[in-house]
Amino acid sequence: MKRIAIFASGSGSNAEKIADYFANKADVEISLIVSNNPKAGVIDRARRLHIPVLLFDRTTFYDTKRITQLLLNQHIDLIVLAGFMWLMPSNLVRAFPNKIMNIHPALLPKFGGKGMYGHFVHEAVVAAGETESGITIHYVNERYDEGQIIFQAHVSIVPSDTPDDVAHKVQVLEHLHYPRIVEEVLMNDE
Ligand code: GAR
Repeated sequence: MKRIAIFASGSGSNAEKIADYFANKADVEISLIVSNNPKAGVIDRARRLHIPVLLFDRTTFYDTKRITQLLLNQHIDLIVLAGFMWLMPSNLVRAFPNKIMNIHPALLPKFGGKGMYGHFVHEAVVAAGETESGITIHYVNERYDEGQIIFQAHVSIVPSDTPDDVAHKVQVLEHLHYPRIVEEVLMNDE
């Protein structure tokens, strides 16, 4: 049995797609949804999906090793960030080398870095007059959006597209690809 922990701070649509994808697979379990935001939509989704939730605050995350220890104790094989907005602390990155992955809603290395998340990304993409955007799935290190790229998918942008339109197109790609790429990374790590 492979065990996944999903970190999410927001609505959790990707977390739910991943949980749905693995629901019928006997060899993989979403063991935990981890969040810094008690009001996040992902918490309601987790309850509905009967997945245990772990909530923590900034002090616990950055000033203690409690979260890392808990994930090690639970024998987590892979940490999947799905709309999680805080930088991973170095003790966590070191405890899970190449076992933390993230999805970013643009084509890295463009439109990444601190403050580049969610809607801010799509606004910047449209403001820059880009003709395409997409998703980047990558390993996570101690710097925002700089880990090794695992997978990218592209989508065209037309001049009339608003940031909301781009967000929608990108979300379609996220839901289509992220669960499958999570599975590939999990299974390649035998
Ligand atoms: C997703 O678009 C994800 O790519 C983005 O947050 C959204 C979460 O949506 N992540 C980042 O911007 C990370 N820098 P969700 O809560 O509906 O899954």
